[in-house]
Amino acid sequence: MKILAAVLPSHDAPFEIRELEIADPRPGEVLVRIVGVGMCHTDLLARIPGVPFASPIVLGHEGSGIVERVGEGVTKVAPGDKVVLSYASCGKCMHCETGLPQYCELFGALNFMGSRLDGSAPLSGCDGSPMGCCWFGQSSFATHAMATERNVVKVMADDVRLEILGPLGCGFQTGAGAVVNSLGARPGTSIVIYGAGAVGLAGLMAAKIVGCGTVVAVDLHENRLSLAKELGATHTINAKTTPDVTAEVRAITGGGTQYALDTTGVPAVLRGAVDALRPTGTLAVVGVVMGDISFSSSGFLDGKTIKGVIEGDAYPAEFIPKMIEWHRRGTFPIERLVKTYRLDEINQAQHDSESGVTIKPVFVL
Ligand SMILES: NC(=O)c1ccc[n+]([C@@H]2O[C@H](COP(=O)([O-])OP(=O)(O)OC[C@H]3O[C@@H](n4cnc5c(N)ncnc54)[C@H](O)[C@@H]3O)[C@@H](O)[C@H]2O)c1
Ligand SMILES: [Zn+2]
Ligand SMILES: [Zn+2]
Repeated sequence: MKILAAVLPSHDAPFEIRELEIADPRPGEVLVRIVGVGMCHTDLLARIPGVPFASPIVLGHEGSGIVERVGEGVTKVAPGDKVVLSYASCGKCMHCETGLPQYCELFGALNFMGSRLDGSAPLSGCDGSPMGCCWFGQSSFATHAMATERNVVKVMADDVRLEILGPLGCGFQTGAGAVVNSLGARPGTSIVIYGAGAVGLAGLMAAKIVGCGTVVAVDLHENRLSLAKELGATHTINAKTTPDVTAEVRAITGGGTQYALDTTGVPAVLRGAVDALRPTGTLAVVGVVMGDISFSSSGFLDGKTIKGVIEGDAYPAEFIPKMIEWHRRGTFPIERLVKTYRLDEINQAQHDSESGVTIKPVFVL
């Protein structure tokens, strides 16, 4: 079947809308007609020179849509079902079997390799040329994506905008899950969120839901900090104009924060975040860190924890419906973070995301 997709031809070329061919679903696979797909910062890892990705490739891993066809053996969903797509996992390794599919032993191969595990691909150019695909088990910057039964989550609610739910499958799940699952933030405590992008603000909304008392957002962009305030941050810090962010956090939180979430991936921010924890405090790190991080051991020995987190330690089949329920009740207003674009505006959307103007671009198909 012919589809349209935004193809990344190489790490430094603009996205191009191309007609491609998608195969019929194999056993266990689910062909989804995409109605909306978010752009996550992780899609842009493929833009970093030297990072090994298949190219050309169709990226996109925050898709939502309607099941069009299912492969043999699929029972979880049927054509016509509304679904959110999440990351792929094998379902058989030790971590998958113990409810931690985000740490699947085949996570890298299943989500980043650019093909199915056996090297075959459901996508190709119309002339049969190879096309990188299966990005996070979906490649959803396209009118249609091939997922599997394991990484689709059925949307039961009728009163939600399906086209903006895709980021629940990655960015929003990562931020909210890090606060609820990884940190296990408790009511009345303090939390500092470094980076008020899509992941950080989802974390902030979750911190309000669990009832954290002092909620501090740190960012470089005033527009993002204003939104953080509207979403319930009790304090905001502009790291561009604040000479000593760590001292400011300590002052606001009465000596240090119990919890922190880093979404910046900036080594200096992480170092400061550890210093700004109170004894026994925990920092969850979700931002992709380029390079090494160093800490001063004296402050760190005070019972502090640094926890690396994939996908908010969330089990998508349970956590995505939970976020949809928060959203329906109005406590998780993801629409405030989203700006919609057409898929052929993808280069502009990338630019707006990188410049800080748009928090979560979502392509509506
Ligand atoms: N671990 C995971 O499973 C997972 C999942 C999704 C995304 N991610 C990663 O999470 C990170 C955040 O994603 P996002 O979509 O929210 O990106 P984003 O770019 O929208 O957000 C990052 C924010 O950090 C801010 N920032 C950068 N440097 C800063 C500094 N020195 N001080 C304060 N703030 C600073 C930026 O202004 C920006 O608002 C990315 O690295 C992404 O790849 C990880
Ligand atoms: Zn992502
Ligand atoms: Zn596994």
